[in-house]
Amino acid sequence: MVLKGAAKMIEAKHATESDLDWLLQEDEVTQAWAERCIKYNEYIVAFKNGTPIGFLRYSLFWSSIPYMDMIRVLPKYQKQGVGSTLFDFWQQKMRQKNHKLLMTSSESDEPDPQAWHIRNGFTKSGELTFGQLQIASETFFVKELAE
Ligand SMILES: CC(C)(COP(=O)(O)OP(=O)(O)OC[C@H]1O[C@@H](n2cnc3c(N)ncnc32)[C@H](O)[C@@H]1OP(=O)(O)O)[C@@H](O)C(=O)NCCC(=O)NCCS
Repeated sequence: MVLKGAAKMIEAKHATESDLDWLLQEDEVTQAWAERCIKYNEYIVAFKNGTPIGFLRYSLFWSSIPYMDMIRVLPKYQKQGVGSTLFDFWQQKMRQKNHKLLMTSSESDEPDPQAWHIRNGFTKSGELTFGQLQIASETFFVKELAE
């Protein structure tokens, strides 16, 4: 997917081995997990003029529902449509795989990403607490994919 107009040099693609070093630098997963996500097309990277500037990583809740674990755009490139390009690419791929529902979550005290998820069509579906692991509760969001 390539954006047209002002942001036309932004392109989203499935990550490949050549993105591994950058992903390990920017994400917070082990090398083994990053390699696994690349292998199964669970990483999407956004490029501007060939340079990586953001990524989306997902997994499958219940081994069946696509769950966006992380989306991150480098601060310098935020609010320029990069996150939306990543999300649109992922959503399109999930539709092609015949998934009917998308999931994501963020900490309940983080209004910015929550507003962004809602802007992309998600609705709040509940909250979970994780004891000592995380002080703030985690707010979950779902988005039904229309037929
Ligand atoms: C959340 C994040 C991925 C969004 O990516 P982004 O590239 O900045 O977002 P986009 O530019 O694609 O946003 C698209 C639209 O949403 C708007 N938008 C961006 N951030 C927003 C926010 N916090 N609240 C509401 N709207 C927002 C943009 O203005 C834009 O609107 P427009 O098309 O009318 O101009 C990015 O800000 C980020 O990496 N944040 C830090 C990490 C994080 O919090 N990740 C999410 C938790 S897992």
